[in-house]
Amino acid sequence: MKLFNQDLPRGASSMSYAGLLERLEILRSTLRWASRLERPDIEKLLRQANAVRDEVMQLSHRERFVQAVGSQAAPEQAPEQTPTERRQALLARSFVFEGTFGDNPRLLDALEIAEKAAPTDLPVLVDGESGTGKELMAKVIHANGARADKAYISVNCGAIPESLIESELFGHKRGAFTGAATDRKGKFESAHKGTIFLDEIGELPLQGQVKLLRVLQSHEIQRVGSDETIAVDARIVAATNKNLRKLIELGQFREDLFYRLSVIHVTLPPLRERKDEIPLLLAYYGDEAAEALKRRPVAMTPALRAFLLDYTYPGNIRELRNLMYRLACLAGDTADIAHLPEDVRPVAAAPVRVPAASSEPPASLAEAKRAASDEAERACLERGLKDVGGTVAELARRWDMNRSHLQILLKKHGLHSKDFRRH
Ligand SMILES: Nc1ncnc2c1ncn2[C@@H]1O[C@H](COP(=O)(O)OP(=O)(O)OP(=O)(O)O)[C@@H](O)[C@H]1O
Ligand SMILES: [Mg+2]
Repeated sequence: MKLFNQDLPRGASSMSYAGLLERLEILRSTLRWASRLERPDIEKLLRQANAVRDEVMQLSHRERFVQAVGSQAAPEQAPEQTPTERRQALLARSFVFEGTFGDNPRLLDALEIAEKAAPTDLPVLVDGESGTGKELMAKVIHANGARADKAYISVNCGAIPESLIESELFGHKRGAFTGAATDRKGKFESAHKGTIFLDEIGELPLQGQVKLLRVLQSHEIQRVGSDETIAVDARIVAATNKNLRKLIELGQFREDLFYRLSVIHVTLPPLRERKDEIPLLLAYYGDEAAEALKRRPVAMTPALRAFLLDYTYPGNIRELRNLMYRLACLAGDTADIAHLPEDVRPVAAAPVRVPAASSEPPASLAEAKRAASDEAERACLERGLKDVGGTVAELARRWDMNRSHLQILLKKHGLHSKDFRRH
């Protein structure tokens, strides 16, 4: 018996109520006229019914999204609104954000999209370089939505061995594989009614992608080793620092999954493209680090401040945060360039020993700078030690530096304080 074999007019029928009704009618008449259904026929009809239901849900999501956008307390973004007004308006709407943000228009764009997407159940894809705040954004979407008091489950797709992905995401039945000693629920079930954050989605192997796609379409999971289907209602936020379109071209990421996940797409700009946010972040993390380390906030020399305001932060906000914690840990009352890690300092870097009279030209400009700054650092330390007669503690006090950090620098240059003692 032939069942519903005509290919559906894709696109034409999908995502419109008329098209969906037409597909339901075909399903109904197939059932009405079927005298006997074999299991494969039933399976096929089920799949078709699932596909229709999935599209109904997407349509309803879309409508809720449109409604949510339309009913925002604030009117649609007025073109003449300044960035400051936009930020103030976000704050006035009690937008929940565990961090700080200023007037950068690109960041405000991302936050406004997140704010609008939050009350819907639409899947959101967040992309951006490492450390730009993708996970923070996922939490913001959860915290500003109706599921805020329900579970928020985070899964790092890049950290799960391929053989365990299915069980991690969907759970397993006891005895499903060696080592499955008990029934176990997966992350999707744990996120039921809440939000599941699929981090590093670009790392998910193709087989895992197929399974994820199936869940997105059917909103049901099956634990590994079980025939029972379990309905799950989890809002999906995915993140990646990869260019998924490129992965699609390379055949490493499924295009259909990309479109399912990226109904709303938020891109976080790298910190070097929103440098105007740096002063705010320095203050924010300066205070946070001081509080965490139970000390007074560290002041900065003008040279250090100028450097931090202009630095390119390849590790983005995470790097800025780590730097501020480092300064709070190493510096006395005032931090200076010398408190920065060697590979970050404007001029000094890894110990490169280039004798002053070396006839070898440096391999690159960067190396020349490193060598020169290294020599300057050494000369400065020698001079300092001489001035204090080899008393490291006194030099640390004069330079407002942490003593052990100074010791590390002396060691790096092979300098011994006793050689500077006055006899
Ligand atoms: N606007 C912000 N204000 C304050 N802190 C922020 C902001 N954005 C990000 N951060 C902080 O920066 C750090 C990195 O953020 P997060 O972990 O969300 O980045 P990510 O994009 O997920 O990084 P990765 O790709 O490496 O996983 C976190 O400590 C986060 O709290
Ligand atoms: Mg992350």
